[in-house]
Amino acid sequence: MLILNIIVFSIVFFSFLSIIYTTIKNGISPMPTSPKVKKMLLENLPSHSEAPIAELGAGWGTLAFQLAKKYPDATITAFENSFVPYAFMVIRKFVFSQDNLIVSRKDFYKADLSMYHLIVSYLYPGAMTRLEKQFREQLTKETIVVSHTFALPNRKPSKTMIVSDLYRTKIYFYDYLKK
Ligand SMILES: C[S@@+](CC[C@H](N)C(=O)[O-])C[C@H]1O[C@@H](n2cnc3c(N)ncnc32)[C@H](O)[C@@H]1O
Repeated sequence: MLILNIIVFSIVFFSFLSIIYTTIKNGISPMPTSPKVKKMLLENLPSHSEAPIAELGAGWGTLAFQLAKKYPDATITAFENSFVPYAFMVIRKFVFSQDNLIVSRKDFYKADLSMYHLIVSYLYPGAMTRLEKQFREQLTKETIVVSHTFALPNRKPSKTMIVSDLYRTKIYFYDYLKK
């Protein structure tokens, strides 16, 4: 029994340390999107897609798994470089047999985003500045970028929605290369 307690304590302790470490490194914790924001965001996405979709910084999978359910004919890549939430998503994918979801530990700044037609994120201002440059360089075909809470600093959204929550959270929609 003592051994079991030590094992459980060690797992919890090292998971906690790992989350703290990657939160400091990434500049953002794996804080999930709230249910109200999730609902409004998902309701305002295209009703159907077969094209590749990415979530940049998927955390525990709050949006990624819903995207995978909403678009059964598309492949969703959930980028998450923090080990504990990443491992949680891998187990969740296995348990719920979410075959159209790819869980990737890759740093999304090092990924080629040009293949994605829909990109979803909930990050922080510094990441949006960095991503704006990456999008400008890599998005060469029509792509919808959706970010909530934080906007791209220099790009005008095609649509902005305000969630009726405590923070009046904004959801920003951007159309890349739309004629
Ligand atoms: C605020 S959470 C959002 C979680 C999820 N998208 C949601 O809406 O519920 C942001 C996540 O982005 C991850 N992240 C930050 N920078 C990253 C990077 N360069 N590559 C991969 N993941 C990153 C963090 O580890 C964190 O889990």
